[in-house]
Amino acid sequence: MINKIESLWESFQKEVTPLDKQADVLNLKAKYIGKKGLISEVMKGLRDASVEEKKLIGPKSNEVKKNIETSIQDKLKDIQISEMNEKLKKEKIDFSLRDSNLDLGLNSGGIHPVHQIQRSIEDIFLSMGFEVLDGPHIETEHYNFEALNIPETHPARDMQDTFWFKDKAHLLRTHTSTIQIRGMEERKAPFAFVGPGKVFRCERIDATHESCFHQLEGMMVGENINTGHLIYFMKTLLKEIFQKDMEVRLRPGYFPFVEPGFELDIRWKKPDPKDEEARHSGWLELLPCGMVHPNVLKAGGVDPDKYTGFAFGLGLDRLVMVNYKMDDIRYLHKGDLRFNSQFSHF
Ligand code: PHE
Repeated sequence: MINKIESLWESFQKEVTPLDKQADVLNLKAKYIGKKGLISEVMKGLRDASVEEKKLIGPKSNEVKKNIETSIQDKLKDIQISEMNEKLKKEKIDFSLRDSNLDLGLNSGGIHPVHQIQRSIEDIFLSMGFEVLDGPHIETEHYNFEALNIPETHPARDMQDTFWFKDKAHLLRTHTSTIQIRGMEERKAPFAFVGPGKVFRCERIDATHESCFHQLEGMMVGENINTGHLIYFMKTLLKEIFQKDMEVRLRPGYFPFVEPGFELDIRWKKPDPKDEEARHSGWLELLPCGMVHPNVLKAGGVDPDKYTGFAFGLGLDRLVMVNYKMDDIRYLHKGDLRFNSQFSHF
């Protein structure tokens, strides 16, 4: 077997040298080190090998795989450089060339941690039969306030300092709850959806406040939907995110579009039984939620006598901060590559 693996390395080298197209190089990679590649094929014989041989084969096959991987990367880089040179010859000038180190994008970018979390939460809800909806950043007063049971004179309008457009009719949405109304308008009950996205508030920026942040709205409407369903889905969500059962508690919370409204907290630190103060400090406020107010159902074209529903608004930036033990939300928006590249392997 050792000989077979060594000869694979030799034949690989022979095959890779003449290649000059990226696609061919990638095919060759699959042929040798892909899941069903030649190396895996040889490794199938491992069962029948002697104990002595088994000890040698693992490291050997890893070494060959690594060599193949490196040689593929080098080859791809060579091809890109020669393609680039060809282009330079043709075009004479290249504005994209940033430095002499020919950074050709082989260290490709990654997905921002907020979007990683967003995507994994979308997947969790998709797997439970929810749809994923989108909504506009620029909204009208109707979708951001009125339809959500926040009339013009309501003090709750001050809870969320709003960026208004000069026409005083449009604004940057202050929460993703706008998607509740848009989602209801477009479908017939029963339904369930989530709506992630950016929201904007005229906040003084500090370690825990940004003028732009991310929420993921959720809504489920049907006959006899009750608080039990809300708690079930929230606990399931938290279990998936944190990969363990989370202890939660509901406190009353006020939002004009839900009744009753709650703040759902998760047990974060173990309370210290000796310390009276710390006994209540182990909770982290994470998820505002509640049963959809009948006025909101009506505004979305749903009959509140027939249907009920729950809604929640999860703060995604907060979740990323908790997850990575980050102490300043501003890191998430700076675009500093030293920070961002820590997440690029995802
Ligand atoms: N929209 C609320 C906020 O931004 C959160 C929320 C959503 C509360 C849904 C209850 C139900 O603060």
